[in-house]
Amino acid sequence: WAQDVRKNDAGELAIDGIAVSELKAQFGTPLFVMSETDFRARARSFKDAFDAAFADICGGVDVYYAGKSFLCTAVAAWVADEGLRLDTCSGGELAVAARAGIKGENLGLHGNNKSDAEINRALDMKLGRIVVDSLDELDRVAKIASDRGEIANVMLRLTPGVHAHTHEFIATAHEDQKFGLSMAGDSTEQAGLSAAEEAVAAATGYASIELLGLHCHIGSQIFEPDGFELAAQKLLRFHAAMQEKYSIVMPELDLGGGYGIAYTPVDTPRPAAEIAQAMAAVVRSTCAELGITSPRISIEPGRAIVGSTTFTLYEVGTLKTVRVDAPGDSEAEENVTHPRRYVSVDGGMSDNARPVLYDADYSAILASRTSAASAQLSRVVGKHCESGDIVVRDVYLPEDVAAGDLLAVPGTGAYCWALSSNYNYLARPGVVAVRGGSARLIVRGETEEDLLNRDMGVPND
Ligand code: LLP
Repeated sequence: WAQDVRKNDAGELAIDGIAVSELKAQFGTPLFVMSETDFRARARSFKDAFDAAFADICGGVDVYYAGKSFLCTAVAAWVADEGLRLDTCSGGELAVAARAGIKGENLGLHGNNKSDAEINRALDMKLGRIVVDSLDELDRVAKIASDRGEIANVMLRLTPGVHAHTHEFIATAHEDQKFGLSMAGDSTEQAGLSAAEEAVAAATGYASIELLGLHCHIGSQIFEPDGFELAAQKLLRFHAAMQEKYSIVMPELDLGGGYGIAYTPVDTPRPAAEIAQAMAAVVRSTCAELGITSPRISIEPGRAIVGSTTFTLYEVGTLKTVRVDAPGDSEAEENVTHPRRYVSVDGGMSDNARPVLYDADYSAILASRTSAASAQLSRVVGKHCESGDIVVRDVYLPEDVAAGDLLAVPGTGAYCWALSSNYNYLARPGVVAVRGGSARLIVRGETEEDLLNRDMGVPND
């Protein structure tokens, strides 16, 4: 939950004093409810924690908020306000950044398949960095910049061979995925050089490319610092080797995002300060061992800033109960079943695709009132025409939950609205931001008219 969300005296969930019934009356459901106060606090605390940990190493850290997790004009403006920069990955995200008035120097552009139009847009906006993903793209950026008579600021995205899982990581070549330049083995182009080295060599040869440094991103929803530490070490070693071999100075190094958050009580992410200190210790010792000055470090957190700031408010509709096998059911207990109640809400996989895409777990609470009724194992499901349309797989909710009650699902700030769809012609929900006791729409919910406006009707032959 965001820091300012709690039950009020009437037993209703309230954010910064505004009760969910008021939000429902004003904006309808489903609705994403975000705490602007909490968003700003988390953005600032990430920046402060990393700045403090890296102060003596490289004078602080540039934090690029990963817009892919959730972006709209207001959020982009708050990010800038709090002293962060913005990581984008498409022309559309750049358009939002431009609308929010973010300076090009504070923007990065990612993507494994940037269009010429996106590269041109990045150059028009004088972006601080274009993160190049492949040799192919390096040539393309160099040519476009050269045709324009300009110099593109480039970082190279490498795959350091660190494959991070939620609770563990395995150091593996991990070559078989679409992102980045491989640091392992020979590239297919030139024997003896990895794709990463070939890109460094090529980038230093282009008059239209300013090579700022190296970048990596090892994965997402990671709790332990080990994977980040190993990636930092590998990148710094490569950074030092390339600087020496090609007599260049690369002033920056980006270690990506991926810091995990708690979706349910079993998740135990580390505080940002702890991760920052662990990463700083490795950067400090690796630079000392290599005898180099640390480049300016940057990171790209998305989920860890926005994820916990938001909950989704749903209204309960139909209910049904089925009997299911008890967990761990054995032959001897063949007839042991227990009831599971299906609680349907007015949204689902169109506003939160994460359970169906990643088996993600969420929790839910009865938000519109308190109940003294006993708890019943429940599954919160959406209204879509798919049995996989689950919002919360298993949660205990009061037995008397009924149609018209409001449920709140916390932790929906990252990759929920961002991944939303119009499946089954449902209108995407709006996003409301609360601050100082007032609730303001930052993204309007779609209407049926919005959906029909894009349908061009029957062609007139
Ligand atoms: N930097 C790069 C280059 C990335 O690709 C990503 C996420 C981030 C930063 C931010 O990662 P974060 O700090 O938010 O974990 N849809 C998935 C997550 C996909 C992440 C894509 N890249 C999900 O809902 O879990």
